[in-house]
Amino acid sequence: MAGLFLTLEGLDGAGKSTQARLLAAFLEARGLKVVLTHEPGGGLPKVRELLLGKELSPEAEYLLLSADRAEHVRQVILPSLEAGAWVVSDRYLDSSLAYQGFGRGLPLPWLLAVAREATLGLTPRLTFLLDLPPEEALGRVGGGDRLERAGLPFFRRVREGYLRLAEGEPHRFVVLDARQAVEGVARAIQAHLLPLLP
Ligand code: TYD
Repeated sequence: MAGLFLTLEGLDGAGKSTQARLLAAFLEARGLKVVLTHEPGGGLPKVRELLLGKELSPEAEYLLLSADRAEHVRQVILPSLEAGAWVVSDRYLDSSLAYQGFGRGLPLPWLLAVAREATLGLTPRLTFLLDLPPEEALGRVGGGDRLERAGLPFFRRVREGYLRLAEGEPHRFVVLDARQAVEGVARAIQAHLLPLLP
């Protein structure tokens, strides 16, 4: 039996990695085989270093992310799904649409054209968007990394982008308020998965 592909999205500091771990544990407790993975770096780990290093043009950034994603899909996600596992990815294509598209201003048609080849059209069954006001996200991530330097206006565009993507695909996206306690978010995610469990 083929598995199910789930993704978590949101601004840095929204609690995606915590929720990804809790979600994986929840599914494993129900006897499912689970593969927990992440982007950037899920396909080509060196890409993460390149992105967190020096400032790149948005085009170079997106093409590196796409190379990573192409490997991630082919080497990790699809083989796991075919083996019957449920795959939980902390970030996927929507991160690029929100950050490189809405955040950095790359045209969505180009992003989607590249993505069609990079992902082989693989779309998550459900995407949990942990929504957080940008002021709060910045407060949570703290200290001087590349992203903080990008500043509040960038974060605002990324958040708005995520919400627009969610509006466009209401059957795939589940938007959750990431200001609530960790357990509240986890329970909401689990409630959406119950009807999908075997
Ligand atoms: P991530 O490793 O999730 O950072 P953190 O662990 O701090 O949340 O992602 C690193 C950064 O890369 C993050 O700021 C989001 C950004 N990113 C994009 O801009 N586009 C993408 O497609 C992806 C996957 C990540």
